[in-house]
Amino acid sequence: MINKGVTLWFTGLSGSGKSTLARAVENEIRKRNCRVEVLDGDLIRTNLSKGLGFSKEDRDINIRRIGFVANLLSRNGVVAITAAISPYRAVRDEIRMMTENFVEVYVNAPISVCESRDVKGLYAKARAGTIKGFTGIDDPYEEPLNPEIVCYTAKESIEESVAKVIAGLESLNYIRSSVTVPQH
Ligand code: ADX
Repeated sequence: MINKGVTLWFTGLSGSGKSTLARAVENEIRKRNCRVEVLDGDLIRTNLSKGLGFSKEDRDINIRRIGFVANLLSRNGVVAITAAISPYRAVRDEIRMMTENFVEVYVNAPISVCESRDVKGLYAKARAGTIKGFTGIDDPYEEPLNPEIVCYTAKESIEESVAKVIAGLESLNYIRSSVTVPQH
């Protein structure tokens, strides 16, 4: 049976845990025999959005492209998981409006925590002024006002956050509540 398909939209600061969470949720969803695809910001910027920078205009183009592809996938029964900062509320809401099944997940971690993780060393560069217009430092991040799901990754374990997302998808009827064994 083909499931309904949904665009599962992760938004949050760099280093908040979007990609990690997206991959962990992907694994969990795959176990349920659903089709799933991850559109990860960093990866998208090496192909579909290659050449785009981090001005508001370029970020908006990037997000619209990701939203467009996610919509194509999700309307064909795929759980399309996106993991880009997507800092601007208006564009996120635009994607929400054009997507039949849209679930927003706010990956919420304080900037101090994201900065202390500094997985890619970019916060240090932003503080030093080597990178200009870094989200959360000298560029805006507009928090979602009514996200379907919020994960507090500074307080929750990855497993807890994943369980929250899965429970959210179950309660919204996008995935079934138990792991199903295919019938022979
Ligand atoms: S978005 O704003 O257009 O949604 P996206 O998620 O694709 O951003 O890319 C963010 C990633 O690009 C960050 O995790 C970080 O590794 C890198 N990056 C490089 N420059 C910046 C910047 N100025 N602001 C934010 N992220 C940046």
